[in-house]
Amino acid sequence: MIKVLFVCLGNICRSPMAQIIFQNMVNEDGLENQFEIDSAGTEGYNELYHAGVHSGTKEILKRKNIPFFEHYSRKIRKNDYDYYDYIIAMDMENINDIENITGIDKDNKIKRLLDYTNNPRNIKDPWYTGNFEETYEDVTEGCRAFFKYLLLNNKLEQL
Ligand code: 4NP
Repeated sequence: MIKVLFVCLGNICRSPMAQIIFQNMVNEDGLENQFEIDSAGTEGYNELYHAGVHSGTKEILKRKNIPFFEHYSRKIRKNDYDYYDYIIAMDMENINDIENITGIDKDNKIKRLLDYTNNPRNIKDPWYTGNFEETYEDVTEGCRAFFKYLLLNNKLEQL
């Protein structure tokens, strides 16, 4: 089982978008039995409000015909570090905040999503930019690259 945790700041815009897009890629290839995929935030305020996915993320996924499922914000916990195999952040600030909670990345599990691409960079926060289309393009590029990384490194059982 490959356990993947996508992480952003608020866990309502970027990381649930990555979780839903990546889960759909896995499902389309019939590989869902090989994965456990979740997302979390480095801040807990949206968990307090039991916040679901942001309407901007919902709307762009609908426009792109990506099947939607709900996710409720939760803050990353210290024991997530041992549980998950891949902890995938959206930007450098997330990585710093994750390590403040989990401790240093001794097993080299924490990367940015776009570190799996040929053009490593942060994914800007649409909570501030309002540009969910740009987030969608970046998240999709990163999820495709991460999937390809798993395939090329023989992490998946071939059906
Ligand atoms: P996210 O965006 O990290 O992509 O989920 C944010 C969502 C909410 C807040 C900040 C960023 N907030 O301040 O509530």
